[in-house]
Amino acid sequence: MVQGSVFPGTPASEFSPGSVSLVGAGPGDPELLTLRALRRLAHAEVILHDRLVGAEVLALANPDAQRVYVGKARSDHSLPQEGINQALVDWARAGKRVVRLKGGDPFIFGRGGEELEALVAEGIAVEVVPGITAASGCAAYAGIPLTHRDHAQSVRFVTGHLKNDSADLDWPCLARPGQTLVFYMGLHGLPEICRQLVAHGLPASTPIALVEQGTTARQRVHRGTLADLPDRLAAASPRPPTLIIVGGVVSLHAALDWFRPEAAAAGGWETREPCREALRAKA
Ligand SMILES: C[S@@+](CC[C@H](N)C(=O)[O-])C[C@H]1O[C@@H](n2cnc3c(N)ncnc32)[C@H](O)[C@@H]1O
Repeated sequence: MVQGSVFPGTPASEFSPGSVSLVGAGPGDPELLTLRALRRLAHAEVILHDRLVGAEVLALANPDAQRVYVGKARSDHSLPQEGINQALVDWARAGKRVVRLKGGDPFIFGRGGEELEALVAEGIAVEVVPGITAASGCAAYAGIPLTHRDHAQSVRFVTGHLKNDSADLDWPCLARPGQTLVFYMGLHGLPEICRQLVAHGLPASTPIALVEQGTTARQRVHRGTLADLPDRLAAASPRPPTLIIVGGVVSLHAALDWFRPEAAAAGGWETREPCREALRAKA
């Protein structure tokens, strides 16, 4: 027999004053938070959060908690990383229960490792609460299984933020068949990503999808091939955040697309980035 609630409240004592919890908020849909994330949010006294943590997730936090926005857009760094690290240390030393709330999973393209290093170096008590990363969330809600026996035996998470044009990625490795590639932060680099994958041997007809504002009411899935997706997107004006999925699994979307964004709990993000212009300029 089940006794009490399915989600019993937990005492705040589980979250010690003067400690930091690095919490993954998942990809957008608040229903994708873990139970531990929800508990930490309920007992937090200070919450430092990113740009990709939506209002619906923050609404679940302790209403009396102090909220500090430390997000980073492409061109707007509200607080440098060293400043964020120091703020975490300072709040913890002030005896607060601190939640560092990050989109997706803290350890996947989230600089959670650097924050953990800084806290450990200062002797601050810290824990990591993993979250559903954008690749898992967006792929699931787009009906694109990241692995599938008929299409992909492995999956790779890759940064699409090409610092030095394209020189920083191992393109021959990425262009091997039988794998799924997931590019984070890849919208601006999309034309170059498609060009390089074809130049290194993937067929130009390889399916590719761009998932826009995945798991939210604004989710859109744009599909094409390595040859034509950049041009198609110029007309669609996708809004960040966006995730790129490349490989045979993308062809399953047409049959497996189950998610109805209009029924979603999370609204999505307002952004003013001129994505269409950026894509045209790069193409
Ligand atoms: C700095 S990375 C942080 C990733 C995060 N730590 C995670 O595990 O998902 C930000 C990138 O994640 C991707 N992303 C995060 N949430 C997304 C969403 N809801 N829909 C599409 N892409 C998303 C985008 O590629 C975005 O540029």
